[in-house]
Amino acid sequence: MDYRGNYKGKKRGGLVRIFVVGSGGREHALVWKIAQSEKADRVFCAPGNGGIEKIAEVVHIKANDIDGLLAFAENSKMDLTVIGPEVPLVKGVVDRFNEAGLKIFGPDRGLAMLEGSKVFAKETLKRFGIPTADFKVFDNPDKARDYLRQKGAPIVVKADGLAAGKGVVVAKTIEEAGQAIESMMVKKIFGRSGERIILEECLEGEEVSILIFSDGRTILPLVSSQDHKRILDNDRGPNTGGMGAYSPAPVVSDKLFNDIIADIFRPLINGLLREGKSYKGVLYAGLMITKSGPMVLEFNVRFGDPETQAILPRLKSDLVGVLTACIDGTLDKVKLDWDERACLCVVAASKGYPGAYEKHKEIHGLGNIKDEKEIVIFHAGTASKEGRIFTNGGRVLGVAGLGKDIVSAKKKAYEGMRKIRFDGIYYRRDIGDKAIKKLEQGEPI
Ligand code: AMP
Ligand code: GLY
Repeated sequence: MDYRGNYKGKKRGGLVRIFVVGSGGREHALVWKIAQSEKADRVFCAPGNGGIEKIAEVVHIKANDIDGLLAFAENSKMDLTVIGPEVPLVKGVVDRFNEAGLKIFGPDRGLAMLEGSKVFAKETLKRFGIPTADFKVFDNPDKARDYLRQKGAPIVVKADGLAAGKGVVVAKTIEEAGQAIESMMVKKIFGRSGERIILEECLEGEEVSILIFSDGRTILPLVSSQDHKRILDNDRGPNTGGMGAYSPAPVVSDKLFNDIIADIFRPLINGLLREGKSYKGVLYAGLMITKSGPMVLEFNVRFGDPETQAILPRLKSDLVGVLTACIDGTLDKVKLDWDERACLCVVAASKGYPGAYEKHKEIHGLGNIKDEKEIVIFHAGTASKEGRIFTNGGRVLGVAGLGKDIVSAKKKAYEGMRKIRFDGIYYRRDIGDKAIKKLEQGEPI
């Protein structure tokens, strides 16, 4: 196994067959890290992408085809399945695998609702006294409009259910919020996901992502990271799935990190446990660092994308051991070792993204990156055809750079990115700049 996780056949010390579900950059990073584990004998991925194909055995099953995934895992005797995206989790893939006696990493359907229903998440936060924006739930558009007139703008409108990351509108004016209510509740642009909505106080501050592993009782935090959701430099333009990330996030001091664990994750995991619910898996909190402290914007019940591509290259410990400890309830025996270096991942997108985008453009230059210890390429929307790699999605690939600090990690990532070419390639040039500015101002990292 080389540093990139290139698959070189079976390993002698290998113990388990591992099945990763998903096809994005996050899943490439998971497969890449898992394939480096001494415990991993064979690594499979469904449906995978052009990069995953080079380091794992790709199976053509869609990520939300629960019956198909289960049949494959049973027939091929998978020892561990790891779910990347939220949809199968919310559809209950973990419950189905557990019923069949198969080991799977992720929360059950009930707790996947922390992401699957924003109302469920907000009510859970309120019940446990965890800081989050004030909110009100509506299933009637007239009542929502009345409340909007009373509260005024800015205000945040959120569809209750999953909406592929598009269900939140931070409205600067009453008109904009009114339009969001109309599209979600009357025009039903997100189908049933918008039948119920939340109107929420608009928070100000800097956003960070904090992820933890949990076995239901023990909390093992990952390192901090920060995403860049807007398509254009300086956080302008429409929201995307994420155009780049870096880790660590300098806005999170040691004290703030400890406060986030103590005031947000601890009461959540303990509160759920008191109610007889055991959160097993990775839990991602999107937080706003406000003047009055960290507040929860959202939960994701899975690894972040592209945060994972900036976090996993820093993880020195064996990932398979951590994932199985979450399932087995032995996380108290696990310690995570991290590379002190910073990691920064820049995402390259297809022309047109996040709107309608181009596809099937050949990607050149992937072989030009030789500096494997400091630059890693994670494919997202790519497909291979006769040994060549083509674009096949909006977010095409991410280039992660490692360096002694964010400045050198940024340099490495962009050095790699400049070697890659495809028609219409677009990437932000300012990933990490907010962190760099903070560090220049002498704030602690
Ligand atoms: P969510 O899917 O809930 O994370 O929302 C997507 C994005 O909307 C977040 O990353 C924030 O940038 C923004 N957002 C969500 N809730 C709020 C809020 N209460 N105040 C300000 N911005 C918010
Ligand atoms: N980076 C945002 C997400 O994974 O939802």
